[in-house]
Amino acid sequence: MDGNGRWAKKKGLPRKIGHREGANVLKKIVNHASDIGIKYLTVYAFSTENWSRSKEEVNDLMSLLAEYLGGFSKNFDKGDIRIKIIGRRTKLSSELQQKITEVEDRTKNNGGLTFVIALDYGGRQEIVYAMKKIAADVQNGTLNIDDITQEVISGNVYTKDIPDPDIIIRTSGEMRLSNFLMWQSAYSELFFLDVLWPDFTKKNFDDTIKMYYKRNRRYGGR
Ligand code: FPP
Repeated sequence: MDGNGRWAKKKGLPRKIGHREGANVLKKIVNHASDIGIKYLTVYAFSTENWSRSKEEVNDLMSLLAEYLGGFSKNFDKGDIRIKIIGRRTKLSSELQQKITEVEDRTKNNGGLTFVIALDYGGRQEIVYAMKKIAADVQNGTLNIDDITQEVISGNVYTKDIPDPDIIIRTSGEMRLSNFLMWQSAYSELFFLDVLWPDFTKKNFDDTIKMYYKRNRRYGGR
């Protein structure tokens, strides 16, 4: 969801307003994804690198997230949406950690869209986290080195119960993955849209899905 800052700057508004508008757009897109029958939608809300932004901006984003999880998630219940947070939890405030546990627990039996929020998330950090868990299993004798497979690695990343993404969309014109789902994106179709996130529409979402169906996925075969 890139481009909140630039969107605000273009309008002469503080970055905070850009993020707030971004959160409004996100709510619309999540409900839309749920309506059209998407089963998994993951958004990159805060990266491990985002802590280096100004204290003010980090605080603004954290309060927006807390507000989002506390309030908006109630609307999502009606849509049968299950919320799941991926990323490192330890650096988040105890209030936010509590809200996360609460919202995950409250929505855990919803069977429609699984809405995944990547929060203090980094793809490489996630691979390190998985490697450490696997190494511990080898060390304590519950896993043999020869039994380490791709499935074992997939079973130890944050997304262990979530399929790899078919589509990854990055807004704002940047053409990088920036540490998003590094393990899971091996065969994802990538779409880089020249639209700032707060200007992203349901039509942009639907058009991307249509383009996806026109692409021919071969997974390295012929
Ligand atoms: C990138 O734009 C966006 C972020 C770092 C935050 C994304 C957060 C939201 C859309 C809202 C909050 C999310 C939830 C789940 C409530 P940028 O700030 O890097 O924009 P710029 O590159 O134009 O400066």
